[in-house]
Amino acid sequence: MDEHKRPIYLDYNATTPHDPEVIEAMRPYLEAHFGNPSSSHWYGRKTHEAVETARAQVAALLNCEPREIVFTSGGTESNNYAIRGIALARRRPGAHIITSQIEHPAVTAVCGRLQGEGFDVTCLPVDEHGLVSACDVERAIRPETILITLMHANNEVGTIQPVEEAARLAKSRGIVFHTDAAQSAGKIPTDVRGLGADLLSIAGHKLYAPKGVGALCVREGLALERLMDGAGQEGGRRPGTENVLEIVGLGKACQLALQRLAANGEHMQRMRQRLETGLRERVPRIRVNGHPERRLPNTLSVSVHGVDANALLAAMEGQVAASAGAACHSGQVHMSHVLRAMQVPEEWARGTLRFSTGAMTSEAEIDTALTVIAGTAARLRREGA
Ligand SMILES: Cc1ncc(COP(=O)(O)O)c(C=O)c1O
Repeated sequence: MDEHKRPIYLDYNATTPHDPEVIEAMRPYLEAHFGNPSSSHWYGRKTHEAVETARAQVAALLNCEPREIVFTSGGTESNNYAIRGIALARRRPGAHIITSQIEHPAVTAVCGRLQGEGFDVTCLPVDEHGLVSACDVERAIRPETILITLMHANNEVGTIQPVEEAARLAKSRGIVFHTDAAQSAGKIPTDVRGLGADLLSIAGHKLYAPKGVGALCVREGLALERLMDGAGQEGGRRPGTENVLEIVGLGKACQLALQRLAANGEHMQRMRQRLETGLRERVPRIRVNGHPERRLPNTLSVSVHGVDANALLAAMEGQVAASAGAACHSGQVHMSHVLRAMQVPEEWARGTLRFSTGAMTSEAEIDTALTVIAGTAARLRREGA
C-alpha cells in the first residue's frame, strides 16, 4: 500500500501510534545510554536514573508513590501479576474471587486458570449498557472472598464501571481490589487513591508509548506472590534487567497524558461525537452499544443492522481501519464475550464495529471516514452482504 494513502486510523483502543515526544525521550536510550541499571558505574547510573524518573512520571499520572510502581511487559502481565499474585499470597480453602463477564482475556483467562486450581470464581453479569451493578458486587461477597477484579473501562464498548463503589465495598471487608485501567489511563482520570484501588494495571501502547511495556501500581505494604524468580530488580517484585528504553517511553507518555488529560479527552470526545452524529444521520438502522453517559470519551461501538461487520471492514480496508465486535463463520455468528454479556441480539451483533478516536484524529479524517462507512454500508446492504 502507498505509504501516503494509509487508511484512516480509528482503532486507538487496539493500540496507539508513538507520540513524537515519546520517541525523542527514548532516542538517547536507543543510541547512547545502554548501561545496566543495576551497575554501580556511570553507565548504570544513567539508566538507573532514567528508570526512576519514569517511575515518578507514571506515579504522578496514577497519583501514587513511585515505590508503588512495578514495571511490567504490558497490560497482560500487570493483570496476571495482580490477580495471580494476590490469589497465591492469600490462598486458603474456599478462597473466592469476584470478577465480571466483560473483562479483557488478560483477566478472564487468569481467573479461569485459578478456578482450575481450586479457587472459587464469581463472574458478575452486566446490564444492556455493559455496566456491572455495585449491588451485585455486594451480594457476591462472601467471608472467603480474597479479591475483586473489575475493569475501569471496557475496551469494546467503553463503559466505565463503578470502580469506586466496588473498591469501597472491598475495603470495608478487608478484600483486595484490583482494576484493569489499560483502556482508561490517558483518557479519563486514573487516580488510584481516588478510585480506592489496591492494584491498578496500565499498558504503554494504549497511551502513545511502545508495545511491550506496562506498569502495575501496588499499594504500599500489599504482599503479592512473584510470577517469576530471578534477581532483585523492581524491589524484588519483578526480576529481569529492566526494559530501560520502553520504560523511559512509558514515563514520558504518562507525563504527557497527565498534562494533556483534559484537552485530549475533550478532543477525542468531539471526534467521537462527530462520527456518532454523522453515522446516525447517514446510516439508517444503527444502534450504539455501551453506556450513554458512563463511557470512554473516544469509544464508539456501533451495530449496523443487516450488514456483516467483517465484510464491511474488508470492503473499507484501504480507507478506514477499525475492529469488528463479532465474526461470522459459515453462517454462524461468533459474538464477542462483551456483546454476548450485554445480550445484544445476534442480528445486531453481527454488524458491530468498534471505532476509537485518539489524540491524532482530525475532523477531516472523521468526515472522510463517514463518507466511506456510509457509502460502503449502503452498498453492502444493496448487495445483501
Ligand atoms: C482492557 C485491557 N486490558 C488489558 C489489555 C492487554 O494489554 P497488553 O496488550 O499490553 O498486554 C488490553 C489490550 O488490549 C486491554 O484493552
